Amino acid sequence: MTDKPKYKRILFKVSGEAMMGEKPFGHDKKAIQAICDQIINAYNLGYEIAIVVGGGNIFRGISVAAEGMERASADYMGMLATSINAMALQNILEQQNIPTRMQSAIPMNSICESYAKRKAVRHLEKKRIVIFASGTGNPFFTTDTAAVLRAIETNCDVILKGTQVDGVYSDDPKNNPNATRFDELTYQAVIKNELKVMDQTAITLAKDNKLPIIVFSIANKNALSETLKGNLNHTIIK
Ligand code: GTP
Repeated sequence: MTDKPKYKRILFKVSGEAMMGEKPFGHDKKAIQAICDQIINAYNLGYEIAIVVGGGNIFRGISVAAEGMERASADYMGMLATSINAMALQNILEQQNIPTRMQSAIPMNSICESYAKRKAVRHLEKKRIVIFASGTGNPFFTTDTAAVLRAIETNCDVILKGTQVDGVYSDDPKNNPNATRFDELTYQAVIKNELKVMDQTAITLAKDNKLPIIVFSIANKNALSETLKGNLNHTIIK
């Protein structure tokens, strides 16, 4: 990079669904490898990287069991699903000699470290990719909220949320060909118009702490690093 990068430390929010590829649920090795390639590309550019991963790909497979369950129990199942995804990402990254540390909001000491802010920051400073698992550790909060929370706690400069489309649109671009993409949005506009970027808790937390959110498409091969370089369409919420 010739220009000084705008951000030093980033948090990449990976949706669980991105890990299932074309499958109805579960894991697709190629899809996970593609996500890891994107992460490694950005890592090789020198960014400090934290990751929060969702659990939708696994939760879909168990949603019948969760049907009619008490919300808190179903949410804990979802949190365990994010931990399985975090382990999958960690494994593929480490197979490619990328140093990582996994920290879980729900203690599972035989598997990984428990979440500790100061330790997470230390890992990031030492250029380890830190993968945060188990959401916030609390039911009733989404992994988007966990992503914002962890980004704020570990002083990330920005969140990058990878989606199927290249930003936030005025309407669903898959159903409405006249939908237009926003280059930039205020937190207030997202909240007021109930734009489906992240849930309101996550957006409000980002707003209160002035954490910018970049929404971009993970479909392109080098989407994460190219978006960070400013070479790809995206929406920034700030
Ligand atoms: P520095 O001391 O900053 O260099 O960090 P470090 O992570 O290398 O040191 P530490 O001795 O804490 O960890 C060594 C290895 O053990 C790392 O792979 C950690 O992820 C792992 N580790 C640390 N604490 C736990 C834990 O509670 N449970 C599990 N399963 N692994 C842990």
